[in-house]
Amino acid sequence: MDAIEILREASNRIYKNVKDLAGTDDAAGDFGVGAGGDISRNIDIVAEKTVLDYLKEINFECIVLGEECGRVELSENPKGFVIMDAIDGSANAVRGVPFFCSSLAFATENKLSSITDGVITNLSNGEMYWASKNKGAFFNNKQIKVHKKNPIYKIIGINTSGSSIELMNKLHPIFENHDHTRHFGANALEMAMFARGLMDIFIDLRGKIRIQDIAAGYVIVKEAGGMLLDADLKPLDSDLSYDTRVSFIAAANQEILDEIMSQINK
Ligand code: IPD
Ligand code: CA
Repeated sequence: MDAIEILREASNRIYKNVKDLAGTDDAAGDFGVGAGGDISRNIDIVAEKTVLDYLKEINFECIVLGEECGRVELSENPKGFVIMDAIDGSANAVRGVPFFCSSLAFATENKLSSITDGVITNLSNGEMYWASKNKGAFFNNKQIKVHKKNPIYKIIGINTSGSSIELMNKLHPIFENHDHTRHFGANALEMAMFARGLMDIFIDLRGKIRIQDIAAGYVIVKEAGGMLLDADLKPLDSDLSYDTRVSFIAAANQEILDEIMSQINK
């Protein structure tokens, strides 16, 4: 089975196992601090276990890098890494806000740029975004592209959760100049929606986002024709380590990138 088929099946199994759990008291159960540094909730653990059980069931020879479970070596001869944020948007999932997803990616080396496959499933309705390197990006079975035309409403995705006052001051002109700034609380799903053309740019300059949260989005955005840059406007790349935190900008084209970047206070 190809990596993409494995990730798609694992995502479907997560959806099946958590769809009735979100928003319930049972979703919130506290399992202590996970590898990614946040408290692991029961819904996170159920979703991760679903993936780990499935990968073991099919003997997929890989190293799993999970946000809660950390590094799990499922083989002595791994074919690569499965980068797993089984629930992205955990706070939404626990509260029952219908905006959370699973994010699963496969990389051949310890590098973001070696990701070959990614799947993001909207766990509030089962819709799936997926891509394989050089094969395009898809929403369910339809190929997707970032929004290239001049939009009727320009939608600026911008994650400012937990931002410092310094960063808010830098970003302030963007909020002042645009009526339609958005952040929904699950970076992976927001990257997927950007790739589908629902937003024109998505920015996270907090320097806080983990690799697990963006790994699947990385290949989906690229295959949908989006630009993916770091805070210095260089092509986004990094290792896959737990400690790594990044900033990134996903832009539909150079024009919107230049427009938004010119509005950031130095
Ligand atoms: C969180 C979401 C959220 C972002 C946080 C992440 P998690 O992921 O992606 O949008 O603002 O920084 O931690 O913890 O729910 O997997
Ligand atoms: Ca998570």
